Amino acid sequence: MNELDSLVESATQLFAQSATPADLENAKAQFLGKSGRVTELMKGMAQLSVEEKKSRGAAINVAKQAIEAALTARRQALADAELQVQLKAEALDVSLPGRQRGQGGLHPVSLTLERIQGIFGSMGFDVAEGPEIETDWFNFTALNTPEDHPARSMHDTFYVEGGAPGAPNLLRTHTSPVQVRHAVQHVKKHRALLDAGQPMPEIRVIVPGRTYRVDSDATHSPMFHQCEGLWIGENVSFKDLKVIFTAFCRTFFESDDLVLRFRPSFFPFTEPSAEIDIQFQSGPLAGRWLEVAGSGQVHPNVVRNMGLDPEKYIGFAFGMGPDRLTMLRYGVNDLRLFFDGDIRFLSQFQ
Ligand code: PHE
Repeated sequence: MNELDSLVESATQLFAQSATPADLENAKAQFLGKSGRVTELMKGMAQLSVEEKKSRGAAINVAKQAIEAALTARRQALADAELQVQLKAEALDVSLPGRQRGQGGLHPVSLTLERIQGIFGSMGFDVAEGPEIETDWFNFTALNTPEDHPARSMHDTFYVEGGAPGAPNLLRTHTSPVQVRHAVQHVKKHRALLDAGQPMPEIRVIVPGRTYRVDSDATHSPMFHQCEGLWIGENVSFKDLKVIFTAFCRTFFESDDLVLRFRPSFFPFTEPSAEIDIQFQSGPLAGRWLEVAGSGQVHPNVVRNMGLDPEKYIGFAFGMGPDRLTMLRYGVNDLRLFFDGDIRFLSQFQ
């Protein structure tokens, strides 16, 4: 092997040993750089004759081209290897299932509230809302629950700044204050009729919303939902309550196999008062009495606070727990699941 051949071979070897592009450029400089070995050979031709220069120059050029070819090949090989590493690192498994955009849906309690509104809407009930921060007057006093009334202690709640001296505003403990708020508006709207001694259109309304009490366990949450119902007219009786509430429960639970019981109870704002219990005659809950609402004939003092004459206007109210209705409908045994925000639980209702 002549001198030039071994030069090409040692260049090729050094290129092959260069593991990175930077190493390779250094190796290149040793052969093709300004003071590289090929350049030195070119310089060494200065003393040769023209004939010798010709043949020697051609031979060196052949060697130089071989070294350049080896360099280009090695550069390509290093680039290919780098690309392989990158492709491997960024590999996509196209056989994996796609990630779909999550589909939102209504919360189970919202589904229940919609259902309640739909059913009572079909029976001619309007829907009203009221503030969650309530005055002492609407939450208690207007509902015939004066200060120091023992019933207030069952409604321990969260008090906030503002309100009258000695009667701070509070997070409402039930939706009943909206009975009075709504009735007052209704009376105002129909003042002219009342003044003329003409019959006022009946008040028929339901009030869904959030309520608050200092309570927390598997069946009580400090924030919970209620849905109030109110029907006031000149000739509305407990019988009507029984009819509409029975119809409501049967529609809500999609079962005619269900009976109601009115169990005497006490609320300051109704007289007489009753808890409404339901019992399924078949299915997993059969045979147990389940409390679903409080109810009663609106107390004359409350009717008066609505701006109406209790001698003329009479009616009933009820307050049910949509959270509890949701638990019964779907067989959920811990109320807190509704408010933990766990998507694995919530997505089951879509
Ligand atoms: N407001 C009562 C409660 O929260 C329920 C109720 C409403 C009772 C209307 C009677 C009439 O306990």
